[in-house]
Amino acid sequence: MKKKLIAGNWKMNGSTATNAALVQQLLAGVGQAACDIAVCVPAPYLAGVEALVKGSAIAVGAQDVSAYDAGAYTGEVSASMLRDLGVRYAIVGHSERRQYHGETDAVVANKAQKALAAGITPIVCVGETLQEREAGLTEEVVKRQLAAVIHTNGHCISEIVVAYEPVWAIGTGKTASPEQAQQVHAVLRAQLHAATEHSDRVQILYGGSMNAANAAQLLGQADIDGGLVGGASLKAPDFLSIIAAAV
Ligand code: G3P
Repeated sequence: MKKKLIAGNWKMNGSTATNAALVQQLLAGVGQAACDIAVCVPAPYLAGVEALVKGSAIAVGAQDVSAYDAGAYTGEVSASMLRDLGVRYAIVGHSERRQYHGETDAVVANKAQKALAAGITPIVCVGETLQEREAGLTEEVVKRQLAAVIHTNGHCISEIVVAYEPVWAIGTGKTASPEQAQQVHAVLRAQLHAATEHSDRVQILYGGSMNAANAAQLLGQADIDGGLVGGASLKAPDFLSIIAAAV
């Protein structure tokens, strides 16, 4: 059976001092975890956090990656730079980037491609807004978002991680029910299955107000292979409980 992945998305939070304290607590509490673990940290802290977790069970991820290789792209961070720092994952297409930075499906697909080419695992986020859910468009939206990445990345598609994050559940305390989440995960699994014979190895994470209290039930669903955790990943006891639930 494939391992689950619990990835923390710290978003734009932290400082050198608070990161060190958080990582220290995580390292002290993580023990022999049954799952893969990552923390996706703000770009300025990637190298520092990588140094802190080196040799441990915790991998480091970025929260974004450039769609370009190198050159005159002020402010961008390339996949090869991430690789150079020892970064293992990069979140691409988070709804906050789609919403606040105008990222389209095509841009997200290019970012995933650059990550894969550099040996970084893209965590490809898909998810519908509340309006889209209420209009009955959930499946159509997530399939369109994933199709863009599949279409661009072809045979590498089994190397990605997918994260289903219903936008209405992010940071709202409103979690998708395990059944609601499983239903969408099954759709995504079927789509991956049609694209690659290795679809079973793709980890499909749930994200959106996952916490210590609801993690076990969500992670118990057939097609939920882990979590992409925002707020609860900033509190070591909560993140450690989620990790412990990922068996
Ligand atoms: O990427 C994780 C995320 O958007 C979920 O955030 O705070 O609802 O767990 P949160």
